[in-house]
Amino acid sequence: MESVKVFAPATVANVSCGFDVLGFCLDKVGDEIIVRKSTQPGVRITKIEGQKLPLATKENVAGVAAEALLEKHPCDFGFEIEIYKGIKAGSGIGSSAASSAGAVFGINALLGEPFTRNQLIEFAMKGEELASGTAHADNVSPALLGGFTLVRCGQKPDVISLPSPQELYATIIHPKIELRTADARSVLKRTISLEKGIQQWGNLAALVSALFMDDYDLMSRSLVDVVIEPERSALIPHFKEMKEAAIAAGALGSGISGSGPSIFNLSKGQATAEKVRQALIDSFSPVGIEFDTFVSPINKKGVQLITP
Ligand code: HSE
Repeated sequence: MESVKVFAPATVANVSCGFDVLGFCLDKVGDEIIVRKSTQPGVRITKIEGQKLPLATKENVAGVAAEALLEKHPCDFGFEIEIYKGIKAGSGIGSSAASSAGAVFGINALLGEPFTRNQLIEFAMKGEELASGTAHADNVSPALLGGFTLVRCGQKPDVISLPSPQELYATIIHPKIELRTADARSVLKRTISLEKGIQQWGNLAALVSALFMDDYDLMSRSLVDVVIEPERSALIPHFKEMKEAAIAAGALGSGISGSGPSIFNLSKGQATAEKVRQALIDSFSPVGIEFDTFVSPINKKGVQLITP
């Protein structure tokens, strides 16, 4: 193989109570990445369409992630990367993670898969570090592995794939304001009270249990964030009203997707997820900010090669 085309999906990180550790993978919305072998060693980003992002390898998340892989697997040839952005940077659905994951997945495929998908997480995290200042793995893990993932430890990633209940659907609303992850992280307090810690880890453990048990009621009770959402929700116009509208329409829970401004909503069944979408449209339309919405099943496959 001399070149591959990759679909790198959007993802939802945090999932309310799992700040920096929990995430899931979305379907259809994502970036397309073409990776080509080149006789010139190293990594070059040769084209970016769909958005204005840096072509310089060290300033581009895909470039930095690709270089991290090649540091562990030196080659006497190189790679050219074309990025077709389907996810807007600063939207909260894992834009930088998709490009980073897509690039390392494509290179790994051209190298004959020396690394497992799980091993690629460490390289893709380097892109997250460039984008947000922190090498968190809660978007790159579901982008690479699909489904729900839990990051037990971020330093040397220890990532666990969790079950994805069959009837679970996500509804996403993306208010078209840009919220940089670095800025959304800078508003967070560095310490939390023991009381909040107890509530948060109780909810996280219960949410993980609910995924294993297919228990939608427990999922609904657990989709609560007492640590991050109270601080970040002020950055998202109409957040409280949208959340209330989604719950009233039948959503199991709603929260900030990653660092926002997108909001994710989980529902049992596609029909409810569509009702939630309509409720969000009705709620947000009067605000006067452009927005997008979509409904997605949980994507269990993650990043994939696109066959020509
Ligand atoms: N866990 C990260 C955050 C995800 O919330 O800052 C960023 O997309």
